[in-house]
Amino acid sequence: MPDSIAVRRLDATEAEARISELAAVLVDAVAHGASVNFMAGFSQGEAEGFWQGQLPGIADGGRRLIVADHGARLVGTVIITLAPQPNAAHRAEVGKMLVLSHLRRQGLGRRLLAAAEASAFAAGRTLLLLDTESDSAGDRLYRSCDWIEYGRVPGHAYTPDGRLAETTMFYKRLVL
Ligand SMILES: CC(C)(COP(=O)(O)OP(=O)(O)OC[C@H]1O[C@@H](n2cnc3c(N)ncnc32)[C@H](O)[C@@H]1OP(=O)(O)O)[C@@H](O)C(=O)NCCC(=O)NCCS
Repeated sequence: MPDSIAVRRLDATEAEARISELAAVLVDAVAHGASVNFMAGFSQGEAEGFWQGQLPGIADGGRRLIVADHGARLVGTVIITLAPQPNAAHRAEVGKMLVLSHLRRQGLGRRLLAAAEASAFAAGRTLLLLDTESDSAGDRLYRSCDWIEYGRVPGHAYTPDGRLAETTMFYKRLVL
């Protein structure tokens, strides 16, 4: 992995300024078959709409966006959503864990996930949850980073090409 890749948190102003790059990473993931809520043909404009919808949460701190920058180019993302419920002040969800397809399997996903976990912990969140398509690259990444499977739902979501696929739910407890 090139040393020039920096993993860091982006605030809402920076996220808005770089919305086309954020969208491009999401479009690339869907185009390569990732089951991340969207179907084949997902456009740059639709992806920018998704990220626009994230901005208020990033601005008010309910969401934390962490990105990977390769030089001037944004090449990876992960979002932490802090649970808003009064009885869940220790909980957060991880989502949109994405690395540009041509930069995968070089440790960047692991770096982004570690940064997301550290950021959640810094926000006082010690129980993290996520779900992902069973047996996908994400599934393998989370297992390799000590996330624990707590359930599977057959036929939970469509893959971009229209196949119903199983989802696996994971959690991780963060300790000092
Ligand atoms: C999941 C994803 C973020 C992983 O990013 P990455 O940069 O390739 O991950 P890493 O290189 O850090 O991989 C870390 C470990 O995860 C596991 N892993 C990751 N991708 C894998 C794959 N395709 N097959 C098997 N194991 C895999 C391996 O154990 C790997 O360690 P190794 O390379 O030393 O064997 C990337 O594949 C991606 O963006 N996928 C599309 C989006 C997606 O499905 N995200 C998850 C749901 S939100």
